[in-house]
Amino acid sequence: MPVGRTPAIRRLHPQPSVASVTDSLTIRDNRTGAEYEVPIVDGTIKAADLGKIKTSDDEPGLSTYDPGFVNTASCKSAITFIDGDKGILEYRGYPIEQLAEESTFLEVAYLLVYGELPTKEQYEAWVHEITYHTFVHENVKAFMQGFRYDAHPMGMVMASVGALSTFYPDARNIEDADNRHMQIVRMIAKMPTLGAWSFRHAQGKPYVYPDNELSYTENFLSMLFKMSEQKFNADPRLVKALDVLFILHADHEQNCSTNAVRSVGSSQVDPYSAVAAGVGALYGPLHGGANEAVLRMLKRIGSVENIPAFIEGVKNGNERLMGFGHRVYKNFDPRAKIIKKACDDVFEVTGVNPLLAIAKELEKIALEDEYFIKRKLYPNVDFYSGLIYEALQFPPEMFTVLFAIGRAPGWLAQWQELITDKEQKIARPKQVYTGDRTLKFVPREERWA
Ligand SMILES: CC(C)(COP(=O)(O)OP(=O)(O)OC[C@H]1O[C@@H](n2cnc3c(N)ncnc32)[C@H](O)[C@@H]1OP(=O)(O)O)[C@@H](O)C(=O)NCCC(=O)NCCS
Repeated sequence: MPVGRTPAIRRLHPQPSVASVTDSLTIRDNRTGAEYEVPIVDGTIKAADLGKIKTSDDEPGLSTYDPGFVNTASCKSAITFIDGDKGILEYRGYPIEQLAEESTFLEVAYLLVYGELPTKEQYEAWVHEITYHTFVHENVKAFMQGFRYDAHPMGMVMASVGALSTFYPDARNIEDADNRHMQIVRMIAKMPTLGAWSFRHAQGKPYVYPDNELSYTENFLSMLFKMSEQKFNADPRLVKALDVLFILHADHEQNCSTNAVRSVGSSQVDPYSAVAAGVGALYGPLHGGANEAVLRMLKRIGSVENIPAFIEGVKNGNERLMGFGHRVYKNFDPRAKIIKKACDDVFEVTGVNPLLAIAKELEKIALEDEYFIKRKLYPNVDFYSGLIYEALQFPPEMFTVLFAIGRAPGWLAQWQELITDKEQKIARPKQVYTGDRTLKFVPREERWA
């Protein structure tokens, strides 16, 4: 075998015998000739079972090598279901299309965190609690004002979410269900305040305090855009569109930032610190930053006439069509369809973004092109969301902050599930060590002589 090449797994018996079908895996270790039967549960084998496969008792057992966890389940979860081939996304069993159409972001947040749709009393109490926790301690404001004038809003949000742990030391009591509820309410309530203030900071405008008479999303828009008027009145169509965008981003099972929340949370730290880790993960361009890249791409294309040449460049491998393709969705991204509709609603109010014509034509051409069809490349959630955000007058740096506000209930639901799951342990992956061993330290005088 050539050096550095990993041998691929081979299926040795192409025709399974019906008589031998059981929910287990037989492994023959060709190093020793030993055979093992490993149970298969929910389509998985336990990695710890592989640890029992050894060449000798004093050797470490077999483990799997899986950078990026592409084929490793880290938890059992009852929160979000995705079927990438069929384009299905469900929160607690409810299809995303129905939730986007008929629910509200706070109702979806309740559903994610508590597993069921709220009764009238539960919903009203939940909305009331969240509304009355939107204010932050004045020192949080002072803390945020200490950032440089050009601080990236995501950096500000990440730091201020982490800082909340110092204001609520009781949050460390993670075993207590009532206490967890309190912190979850606080976190969901304060995210728009922190997000809006990070935006105002960049603009050199005074921070706007929450208005408890407004809905969650109306209040967010008020904290973003209110100036000297007594009350900020947002167009209900814009409020609905932003609420839908929050719903679409509320959870997406074990993505990078959720994995970060779970990983940090597994140390039993308070939820603010765990969520701050999630915000950090989302900050990265491979996770939260794609819609910004779509916008840049559309601006660069500039006009519909330039699309064919651009598509040729993509097909020649010069660059990627941003906002197309997804690691999980290989048929269509159900969120993209809903966003396209929200786009029309927003542009009815704001006037059409000229980039929309380019986006629509690009999508039309790409969906008919053999290159994209063969590779199962379809518009993803980011293809149209950047256009909406721009129409709502958000600068590109704010796009990821909006994502973080929407994702907060998902992070918290996943964190709560982790804390209450008796099978979970502190996250501590293995490594394959490739460095030197037992070298002899050479004193500086000798090395530098
Ligand atoms: C999302 C993404 C990272 C998923 O990647 P993935 O599942 O690992 O898919 P791969 O990178 O293996 O791509 C498979 C094939 O499709 C091509 N491809 C994937 N996405 C493409 C895109 N957006 N434009 C053009 N070609 C693309 C790859 O070049 C590859 O072609 P090949 O088989 O000829 O080499 C990828 O589709 C991408 O980079 N999209 C653009 C960025 C984006 O919109 N990200 C937001 C995701 S929500």
